[in-house]
Amino acid sequence: MTIKKVTKAVFPVAGMGTRFLPATKSIPKEILTLVDRPLIQYAIDEARAAGIEEFIFVTSRGKGALEDYFDFSPALEQSLRDSGKDDLLKVLEDTNMDSGRIAYVRQHKAMGLGHAVWCARRLIGDEPFAVMLPDDVIAAENPCLKQMVEAYEQTGGCMVAAMEVAPEKTKSYGILDIQEDMGSIVKVKGMVEKPKTNAPSNLAVIGRYILTPDVLNTLDAQETGAGGEIQLTDAIAKEIDKSGVYGLRFRGQRYDCGSKAGFLQATVAFGLARDELREEFSQYLAEVNAMQKAAQ
Ligand code: G1P
Repeated sequence: MTIKKVTKAVFPVAGMGTRFLPATKSIPKEILTLVDRPLIQYAIDEARAAGIEEFIFVTSRGKGALEDYFDFSPALEQSLRDSGKDDLLKVLEDTNMDSGRIAYVRQHKAMGLGHAVWCARRLIGDEPFAVMLPDDVIAAENPCLKQMVEAYEQTGGCMVAAMEVAPEKTKSYGILDIQEDMGSIVKVKGMVEKPKTNAPSNLAVIGRYILTPDVLNTLDAQETGAGGEIQLTDAIAKEIDKSGVYGLRFRGQRYDCGSKAGFLQATVAFGLARDELREEFSQYLAEVNAMQKAAQ
């Protein structure tokens, strides 16, 4: 089996982020920061680590700040250079995207995740590609998408990130129906988007995908599914009898940064992971804990 290298990733970032209003009135949700890095930077770093070379953003009105974020900032860079702040210059370098490596497509109407990905079809062409949902932030020693690329090199077909969730949470995710459980990789025989009842398992799809270009052909039909939206899950499910669909139980901790609770958990985790913050921050958390216990 010859497997084409995955070098392109699609980042659907058109959502309005209403759960984070009023902040998202003027700031794209993806620019909200965990410690000092925007959500989107975590996704980009993960993509780069997995060998992604072209980054395709599916945006909407009001997302201009994202384009500025990835642009070079000559005046700021010069001023940092003049004042000898090389460490900050290095931090900025990681945010710069070379010309031609990044593209923006607009999704004019919110018609679902499948539709958002379909909007990028002309930039993808006839090759496998990754999709990354920046709301799902995954802390992992070996970055999640890299784990998926490694697994995909064995399986081919379509690969989704998967994670066991509590049974009462299955209604919030795409859920896998498992044909064969091979440990970290599962072969899939069905996929249901946000099942209200009778979820086929509690193995949920998390926002990382490696997809065959054929998924884009399926999306051409613009069929609607759960919630009246064009669902990516449904289009991937059509690949089960063609190229095959696999789930990877990735190793790592996933934070749902599309929810306030998940965002706060990620903030604590990433704060504690930083050498320069750990001592002061963990001491503060211990104090908060003690105060809470005393108040009970
Ligand atoms: C999307 C997908 C869903 C997946 C989830 C992971 O849903 O449609 O299949 O399980 O992302 O975060 P959303 O959370 O955008 O509604």
